[in-house]
Amino acid sequence: MRILGIESSCDETAAAIVEDGRTIISNVVATQIPFHATYNGVVPEIASRKHTEWILPVVKQALDEAKLSLEDIDGIAATNRPGLMGSLLVGLTFGKTLAWSLDKPFIAVNHMLGHLYAAHLDRDIEYPYLGLLVSGGHSIICKVSGYADIEVLGTTVDDAVGEAFDKVAKFYGFGYPGGVAIDKLAKSGDPRSARFPLPNLYKGGHEYDVSYSGLKTAAINQIDQFWNPEFERTPENISAAFQETAVRILLSRLLKASRDTGLTRIVAGGGVAANSRLRALLAEEKDLECIFPPLRLCTDNGAMIAGLGYRYLADGVTSPFDTGASARVEGFRKFGRPRGA
Ligand code: KG4
Ligand code: ZN
Repeated sequence: MRILGIESSCDETAAAIVEDGRTIISNVVATQIPFHATYNGVVPEIASRKHTEWILPVVKQALDEAKLSLEDIDGIAATNRPGLMGSLLVGLTFGKTLAWSLDKPFIAVNHMLGHLYAAHLDRDIEYPYLGLLVSGGHSIICKVSGYADIEVLGTTVDDAVGEAFDKVAKFYGFGYPGGVAIDKLAKSGDPRSARFPLPNLYKGGHEYDVSYSGLKTAAINQIDQFWNPEFERTPENISAAFQETAVRILLSRLLKASRDTGLTRIVAGGGVAANSRLRALLAEEKDLECIFPPLRLCTDNGAMIAGLGYRYLADGVTSPFDTGASARVEGFRKFGRPRGA
C-alpha cells in the first residue's frame, strides 16, 4: 500500500511516498530556512504563503521522483496538528481536497506522533519503549506500547528544548535554526565554561517534566553569574555550556523514567534528536538501547507522516473530510504519572 504524506506544520513544505509504512520511495523537503533566517525565527505569515506557493510543485516532485501517478496512491495523509495554523491549513486542505477528488482515503496525522514514527521507517522496533520527542515546539517523554497506545509521562512546563536553543542562538546572533548553529559551535567549545543551574521541579507530580525557561534566562540575562572566569566568553564556549545543560536536563528525566518503568529501549524523534551531544550522551548509557532516526528524518518531513498514515489505514482508521487543524498537540493521553519504582 502506497501512501502520499504531506507535512506543512512549520517552515518545511514536504511530501513523500512510502510503501507499507516502511519503504521510502520519494521524500521531498523544500525548506524555507533562507526566508526566515533574516528574522532569526519563523515568521508565520511568510511560512503559510510559501506553503501555498510550493505545495503543488513539492507533491508533483514527490510523485515524479517515485515515477508514480496519483492513481498509484492508496491513501493521502497530512499533518493536522500541532503547528502554525496558517501553515497546517495549507497541507491539510491540499491533502483533503486531493483525497476527495480522487475518491481515496484521507488520514490526518499528529506531527509529534509522526516524529515518533520516523525511526520505524529505518528499522523494526519492538514495543514497548520510551519515546523522547524533542522539537522546536514540544518536549515529550512518553511510554509507547503501540503506535496508537501512547502514555505521556512528562512534558515541558514552559519552553520546549528546541525553542531554548533557538532563543539563545537568536540572542547571541549565532544563526538560524539555533539548534543547528549551537550544535556546530559547541564542537569546539568547552562545556565547563559556565555552570548553568538545573531546574528543580521533580516533586509534586513533575517527576518526568522538564523546564527550559530558567536555563534560557541564565544563558541570556544572567550569564555573568554563571560564567567560569577561567574561560574566554566565546560563541563556542557559550554554545557548549548551554548545550551540555540543555541535553542533561532531558537525560536526567529520561533516565528516571527508564528506572521507574523498567523500559530500557528509547526511541527519539524531532529536530533536537539530531543533536550530536544528546546522541553521544545517550550512546554512553550502556544499559539502554537508544534508537535515533537518521538525521534527515529527525527534522520535519513527509515520510514520517506517510509512514504513520499507513499504520492507521492498515487498521481501517481514516479521517473525515471535515477534520480541522489545531495548533495544539492534544491526541496524546496524559494519565496519572507513575510514582517511584
Ligand atoms: O522537528 P523540527 O524540525 O520542527 C518542529 O517540529 O519544531 O524541529 C526543529 C527544532 C528547532 O528548534 C531546531 O533548532 C532544532 O529542532 N534542531 C536542533 C538541531 N537540529 C535542529 N537542536 C539541537 N541540535 C541540533 N543539531
Ligand atoms: Zn517537527
